[in-house]
Amino acid sequence: MAAKIFTTFLPWLFLLSITLLFLYTSFLPLYSPKSPKGPKPSFPKPHHHHTSPPCNFTRGRWIQDTHHTPIYDGSCPFHRNAWNCLRNQRENMETINFWKWVPENCDSPRIDPVRFLGLMRNRRIGFVGDSLNENFLVSFLCILRAADGGARKWKRKGAWRGGYFPKFNVTVAYHRAVLLARYELQPSKHVDIIDQVGLKGIYRVDVDIPADDWINATKFYDVLIFNTGHWWGHDKFPKEKPLVFYLEGKPISPPLGILDGLQVVLNNMVSFIEREVPRSTLKFWRTQSPRHFYGGDWNQNGSCLFDMPLKEDQNSELAYAQLDAWFDPKNKGVNKEARKVNHIIEQALHNSDIQLLDLTHLSEFRADAHPAVWLGRKDAVAIWGQDCMHWCLPGVPDTWVDILSAKILYNLGTR
Ligand SMILES: *[C@@H]1O[C@H](CO)[C@@H](O)[C@H](O)[C@H]1NC(C)=O
Ligand SMILES: *[C@@H]1O[C@H](CO)[C@@H](O)[C@H](O)[C@H]1NC(C)=O
Ligand SMILES: *[C@@H]1O[C@H](CO)[C@@H](O)[C@H](O)[C@H]1NC(C)=O
Ligand SMILES: *[C@@H]1O[C@H](CO)[C@@H](O)[C@H](O)[C@H]1NC(C)=O
Repeated sequence: MAAKIFTTFLPWLFLLSITLLFLYTSFLPLYSPKSPKGPKPSFPKPHHHHTSPPCNFTRGRWIQDTHHTPIYDGSCPFHRNAWNCLRNQRENMETINFWKWVPENCDSPRIDPVRFLGLMRNRRIGFVGDSLNENFLVSFLCILRAADGGARKWKRKGAWRGGYFPKFNVTVAYHRAVLLARYELQPSKHVDIIDQVGLKGIYRVDVDIPADDWINATKFYDVLIFNTGHWWGHDKFPKEKPLVFYLEGKPISPPLGILDGLQVVLNNMVSFIEREVPRSTLKFWRTQSPRHFYGGDWNQNGSCLFDMPLKEDQNSELAYAQLDAWFDPKNKGVNKEARKVNHIIEQALHNSDIQLLDLTHLSEFRADAHPAVWLGRKDAVAIWGQDCMHWCLPGVPDTWVDILSAKILYNLGTR
């Protein structure tokens, strides 16, 4: 009897499964990585895991976890030679990547490249700023490439470089604009405003005009990440070729010092972004990346041959192993500028709809994670000194990507 019922129902059961399978697969293309067609996916509502209340990633600690291994290696085609520490055989690369950032009150997120690109289908992400944002971009591209081997280089709309992920129709690119505002060198014979002995010219900065590289990219991206700060010093713009700030085509008088100039540029760029970038575009401003020169600045044999992160502990036995000793401006250390610049950035963003992406504190610990002397060229250190500013890849910027991607998904999910 049981066998009879079974044989009667079997065809129906079969038919039902086929129908369910058909229904399932006909909705699948929306989510499958195969086809770039179809609309931007709508995001699940905030109670889902990735849209749980935003974690505050600012405070936390680095712990060693041997399961925490990089998503990419030295063969990623998006690498920039000087940051490709695996290929350049930097010492300690394994230990650099075993460290995992654990925020104080929440789980540390880790990007799932397939899921991230699936949710970002038909969208574009743009970085605008200096080489620390390029360092960020390279990490992002190499991580996302794990989900799409067909990834290729992309460079349009004023972009310096970028990547396109055809399976998902996602573009991620970087626009190089080190001061954000437009600037150019003017030889001294064209300069009538300053009559100063020894002046070889000026760098004219138009505080109210964005650099050509991104001025027309404001409506192209769904997510934008800005930064500037690492060029606002006298090593990039020496006294005999100073920055001179112009507003509405006329030199600002009395002339502004370099950090006052930064403040005026930031205020102008933030209003431009508020005016020109659509409200629906998700906007972030990433804070300064701390440098780790020890024993002198980059041009004074400063070095970062460390094999451990710094410690926050004020009672640490090692005098140098204290974040405040390195970074608090009042200690006048080699690397004091990051916190000072952050303060100016925070003021400029106040009352804007640009979110602060605070990556400074977690990065302050990582004196062990720069390319240092492993730059891939024999003469590089003799010419440029050690690189204690950019980061090895894979490395710390991968953690920035984890945090940024979690924030992007959270924000798009709550709209
Ligand atoms: C995160 O924590 C830091 C340090 O405690 C604090 O300054 C900052 O305002 C917090 N950020 C948010 C978005 O709550
Ligand atoms: C790819 O995405 C862009 C927006 O980022 C969209 O304009 C374009 O139509 C998409 N292409 C396809 C084939 O869906
Ligand atoms: C930006 O677009 C405007 C209007 O189309 C054009 O006049 C201008 O030349 C463009 N600027 C750059 C730097 O591409
Ligand atoms: C850096 O080191 C080199 C070689 O040891 C030395 O000749 C030079 O004087 C040093 N420079 C500074 C600024 O200390």
